[in-house]
Amino acid sequence: MLGSVNEPSNWRDLVVALDDRHLDALASAAAATIESLRGSPDAPRSAVPPTTLRDLVRAVAVCPDDGSDLTTVLAEFATTVWRHGVVPSDVACVAHLHPPTLVPAVATELAIAATNQSMDSWDQAPAATELELHLMGWLADLIGFGPSASGVMTSGGTASNLLGVTLARSAAAAQSGVDVAQSGLPAEAAGWRILTSDQAHFSIQRAAAQLGLGRDAVVAIASSPSGSLDVAALDETIERLTRDGARVIALVATAGTTDLGAIDPLGEVAARARRLGCWFHVDAAVAGAFLLSDTLGGRLTGIEFADSVTIDFHKLWWQPFNASALVVRDASQFDLLRVPSDYLDRGDELEGVVNLVGRSLDTSRRFDAAKVVVTLRTLGRRALAEMLEHLVDLAAHAASAIDNEPTLSLLATPTAMMCVFDAPDASADDLREVQQRLLARGEMVLGRTRIKGRAALKFTFMNPLATAADVERLVRVVVDELGAVRAS
Ligand SMILES: Cc1ncc(COP(=O)(O)O)c(C=O)c1O
Repeated sequence: MLGSVNEPSNWRDLVVALDDRHLDALASAAAATIESLRGSPDAPRSAVPPTTLRDLVRAVAVCPDDGSDLTTVLAEFATTVWRHGVVPSDVACVAHLHPPTLVPAVATELAIAATNQSMDSWDQAPAATELELHLMGWLADLIGFGPSASGVMTSGGTASNLLGVTLARSAAAAQSGVDVAQSGLPAEAAGWRILTSDQAHFSIQRAAAQLGLGRDAVVAIASSPSGSLDVAALDETIERLTRDGARVIALVATAGTTDLGAIDPLGEVAARARRLGCWFHVDAAVAGAFLLSDTLGGRLTGIEFADSVTIDFHKLWWQPFNASALVVRDASQFDLLRVPSDYLDRGDELEGVVNLVGRSLDTSRRFDAAKVVVTLRTLGRRALAEMLEHLVDLAAHAASAIDNEPTLSLLATPTAMMCVFDAPDASADDLREVQQRLLARGEMVLGRTRIKGRAALKFTFMNPLATAADVERLVRVVVDELGAVRAS
């Protein structure tokens, strides 16, 4: 059957139709695509330098007048693209919150693309709309929200945080009798402030910038050495801002900071938000998955008091990009965003119809909920919890291995799957050199960051197949490389 999809001029066979003939052709193409992945490098990254890689990739003719057969195109991709990617399933790929993916999710990606439901309106995605709503309801229950809660899938934590802060801004304006979506920011908005820890993700600042509040509207609250928000510092800042006549419109807590994995004291931040009468957003992009685990879930106590929560399925739920969600305690808050449209969201549809465009910053949108539900149903909560707990154990194991190395020093005891460390006798340049040399040789994709101005290296364990022995080897490789850098 690949014969027909292999014939480039035969475009009629390349349209995905859901009849047997076209599905057989799709199955052959899918099998050929999987074949093209074989022979990927046995390393976290190929050692080809950036400029050589650019030349290699630019040799690909993007859109020739006449196409080629699919096998040829896939073979070209295998040698130019797949072979020179980063391999998140390699145990030495430990820089970022960049996970290997799961078979049920990847297989479902094919069905998502083949069926191509568009999540903006019910008439383009009837069952898909209901499944996304069903998933959002399940997630709301997991968070501990009540029956008025729901959510929407987004493209990532950055988009979910933008949506959460947008709702916070709209709610603050509504409290002042202003419809910000209609008439824009009132003059008083110059005094609006969003408080979050100095370890919060930069997407909170970016959201403030995009919403016309400006990055200066985000006030960074000091964090403890372990990276969680310092409540005493929060109280002092609230007092100072109130004295100065500013208005706190939102408190943003992080459940799992990007570098240290720290979880802010959610219940205590919630109590301040309640007292101020302001929005409480929790960025649980990283540690939201802990709610699946009986042993880790308790660390997120207080999340149930949030007005909105960011959950990133494409991090510790091992989903392919993109898959994130913004869940809100009261789904009617989405009405603050709604812009009616004559062709899409008319309000005169069949009884029970929900057009998710009313909740989303996107219009056309993928049916990413499908892969999440197929994964959750296939693996079940216990297996996912076991995978998460294993990663937390790996970070603890890495921490003790680092503790035993006289040349390395931990910045904080890990609370999640990250382990951040430096080398007391090494400069920031030495650490950069270690990371860059390992990357250039394709030996390790190691994280490098700065915590409160202090240069550091970072392991982020996302691969549940990694073992304690792998972790010990990674620590050894870093120690040896540091020795080589310092000797050179
Ligand atoms: C705490 C936190 N929030 C938000 C984000 C942004 O997520 P995304 O990359 O999915 O936009 C990240 C990314 O690492 C993160 O660590």
